[in-house]
Amino acid sequence: MIEYENLNRANAPYEDRFKEVFESFLKRGRYILDDEVELFENEFAEYCGSKFCIGIASGYDALYLSLLALDLPKGSEILVPSNTYIATIFSILNAGFKPVLIEPSIETYNIDPHNIEPHILPLTRAIMIVHLYGKPCDMDPLKDIANRFNLHLIEDCAQAHGATYKGKKVGTFGITGAFSFYPTKNLGALGDAGAIVTDNEEIAVKLKALRNYGSEKKYYSQYIGINSRLDELQAAFLRIKLRHLDELNAHKTSLANIYLNSIVQENIVLPVVQKGIDNVWHIFNVRHPRRDKLKEHLLKNGVKTEIHYPLAPHKQEACLTWFKGLHFPLSEEIHRTTLSLPVSVIHTKKDIEYIAQVLNHFESEE
Ligand SMILES: Cc1ncc(COP(=O)(O)O)c(C=O)c1O
Repeated sequence: MIEYENLNRANAPYEDRFKEVFESFLKRGRYILDDEVELFENEFAEYCGSKFCIGIASGYDALYLSLLALDLPKGSEILVPSNTYIATIFSILNAGFKPVLIEPSIETYNIDPHNIEPHILPLTRAIMIVHLYGKPCDMDPLKDIANRFNLHLIEDCAQAHGATYKGKKVGTFGITGAFSFYPTKNLGALGDAGAIVTDNEEIAVKLKALRNYGSEKKYYSQYIGINSRLDELQAAFLRIKLRHLDELNAHKTSLANIYLNSIVQENIVLPVVQKGIDNVWHIFNVRHPRRDKLKEHLLKNGVKTEIHYPLAPHKQEACLTWFKGLHFPLSEEIHRTTLSLPVSVIHTKKDIEYIAQVLNHFESEE
């Protein structure tokens, strides 16, 4: 059986080093916001090409705190793609703002800059873009819209560590870039973890306070913050894995290229590759009108797959009151037809060639 992912195997090469840093962590006895967090923050900022990095407890909190740091007026509207993972939308709702869903491009699955302007109203304050599946959004037109309408740009980089647009890393285009280090991500911790990168010193200082009960100085709070500190031990693990992130992204890219060159089944829609937009293939998805049958066919042939995501945000029970009566046909089409194929560090060239062959035989075996 070819698994979709196996974290035990994916993390096996780092096990000895994980044990070493755990030993010294145990000996030091300083568990919260110590050297490892600070070192990771410096290293991740440098990796992204950002001035500052603030370690946060999760990707969701990184989005939520990015919004809080901007001090937006009550009732602000935030534009967000209609096909993102639910966390993006919940960060807006929980921060007390209104998410306004924008249809993606059916080719790139990222927010379509052409669909944005009609939704910019007097209360619109920000665009929260998502580099979905590891593919950077089309940043030139997005930056242009944000500048012309004086909107903040917040980047959800949870799926795109190290991805670049015209040579510049994601996370460095907006006022903040929010990262998740959920264990399955390209840079994954051994538990929950996240970070925010920014070039804005004022925002960076505020975020450091916001993640720690709003306090810059111990026991004195300037803001109503929360507890969302990056865990010291997770930071130590992440430092080890960060050194291998480019290698991992290169491996995933080589697997993605095999899929792109060997899947020839005419009803399968492959992801688009665009010059200057370097995908890090967090997810390699294909689309097919009979997605569920295709998933079954792969499983029968020993290949496990996933669906990212089976139900569009506006159809989630939790969101029905918010998006009542609204339709997002492109998003629905993506959710109905998308299928994620194995593309992990645990997979070999041979695995991917086999999966491509199974896909190519789909309709003839029906
Ligand atoms: C696009 C996107 N945004 C936000 C998140 C939230 O990250 P976390 O699970 O670390 O809170 C995730 C990952 O789960 C994600 O994929």
